[in-house]
Amino acid sequence: MTLRTATPDDLEAIMALERASFVNDAWSEAMMREELASRHSRYVIDEEAGRLVGYAGLRAPAGAKDADIQTIAVAEAARGRGRGRVLLEALLSEASARRASDVFLEVRADNPVAEKLYASEGFVEVGRRPRYYQPDDVDAIVMKLDLAAWAAARTPAPDDAGACT
Ligand SMILES: CC(C)(COP(=O)(O)OP(=O)(O)OC[C@H]1O[C@@H](n2cnc3c(N)ncnc32)[C@H](O)[C@@H]1OP(=O)(O)O)[C@@H](O)C(=O)NCCC(=O)NCCS
Repeated sequence: MTLRTATPDDLEAIMALERASFVNDAWSEAMMREELASRHSRYVIDEEAGRLVGYAGLRAPAGAKDADIQTIAVAEAARGRGRGRVLLEALLSEASARRASDVFLEVRADNPVAEKLYASEGFVEVGRRPRYYQPDDVDAIVMKLDLAAWAAARTPAPDDAGACT
């Protein structure tokens, strides 16, 4: 799999996957165009043989303590092979590089696959927004990640040679 930063030229391919992945609550093309152009955002795309098979977006304004995972999607045929996690980890690394402290996201309460992915990276539920997703009338689960703890968990344990025994 090949990750690269998305550009405005990726808009059409991203929108095709957005509409296929979020049937009743896809973003508009105008919203996505703004996101791709914003200096406060970073979008990454995953390609296979030159075709877009996944994308994910982070919002992390310079100097802000909080960052947000805006979206993440993998093409149906490519799911379940680790691509979603790699996309998510790329965004968390970027949030860390931008010196954010906490990362927030919202996930539909009827999306256990995504919720499990987020929980496995250390996100915890911090609230619910009743009936947030319309017209489906589905609650949003608000999740938060402590980025320093996430980064520390990824750092290999220091070599304990020389430690007192
Ligand atoms: C959510 C999504 C991005 C995950 O991408 P993916 O490439 O399939 O996920 P991965 O293969 O990297 O799996 C990562 C973790 O997700 C969870 N997961 C993935 N597929 C799962 C399944 N079928 N059932 C339960 N959990 C699953 C597991 O925790 C998995 O970790 P593990 O393999 O160590 O058990 C993808 O399913 C998707 O695009 N869904 C539609 C769009 C969407 O719902 N986006 C999230 C919006 S909040």
